[in-house]
Amino acid sequence: MEKMLEVANEFFGLPMEEKMKLYSNDPSKTTRLSTSSNIQKEKIHNWRDYLRLHCYPLDKYTKEWPINPPSFKEIVSNYCSEIRQLGLRLQEAISESLGLDKDYINKSLGEQGQHMAINYYPPCPEPELTYGLPAHTDPNTLTILFQDMQVTGLQLLKDGKWLAVKPFPNAFVVNIGDQLQALSNSKYKSTWHRAVVNAHKARISVASFLCPSNAALIKAPKELIEDESQPIYRDYTYAEYYNKFWSRNLDQGHCLELFKNI
Ligand code: OGA
Ligand code: NI
Repeated sequence: MEKMLEVANEFFGLPMEEKMKLYSNDPSKTTRLSTSSNIQKEKIHNWRDYLRLHCYPLDKYTKEWPINPPSFKEIVSNYCSEIRQLGLRLQEAISESLGLDKDYINKSLGEQGQHMAINYYPPCPEPELTYGLPAHTDPNTLTILFQDMQVTGLQLLKDGKWLAVKPFPNAFVVNIGDQLQALSNSKYKSTWHRAVVNAHKARISVASFLCPSNAALIKAPKELIEDESQPIYRDYTYAEYYNKFWSRNLDQGHCLELFKNI
């Protein structure tokens, strides 16, 4: 975990020309450095740079990954494999907690994808004017976030109030994403969270996203639907959701609302 943060810091410390080789605003690119969130569409930009990597299957994508720092590929690959195991185990526990078979969620999501965002929030001279990331829920299934111990920034919405999530040594923050909300018929709720920026210090966080396969049909099992009632969300494929998500801005409201049964 420590090496992961170190190499992330080293990457963002590289000369601009080196980093810019990876720059792209095209969300369909599987390895890219970008800034803000959806730079073409949004009106207000976010104080964030991020390196976004597809991470599963590793051998399909590592060849696109940064060649500098030289240890990047090895450290990040190891981190990704461990995170995947953790995420799949968490999804087993979540299945059981819903009264479903342990492997229900993992089976229904097909060959699950895995992405990573290494977020870098530079010091911001006027932090009250913007966010690192505005309030959002993650569009995937489950997010495992590892944050910098030195600088706080992550906040989550609880009972109508924004609470700071203090970094805790050797700990991850696990966020439920939109797909677990839909799949569990809202028994699990995707967490609203945001990142604020610091006036003096840069902050790093590493977000690992588990995602359903593109073709996976997201639908709540009948065990979780009350007799006579319809599921809260209509059936859809993850590909449909993901395209909708990236066609909008983070500040346009909850994407999941568009998939509600009426
Ligand atoms: C994200 C995210 C929060 C953070 O990448 O989706 O919410 O603390 N990151 O960087
Ligand atoms: Ni998020």
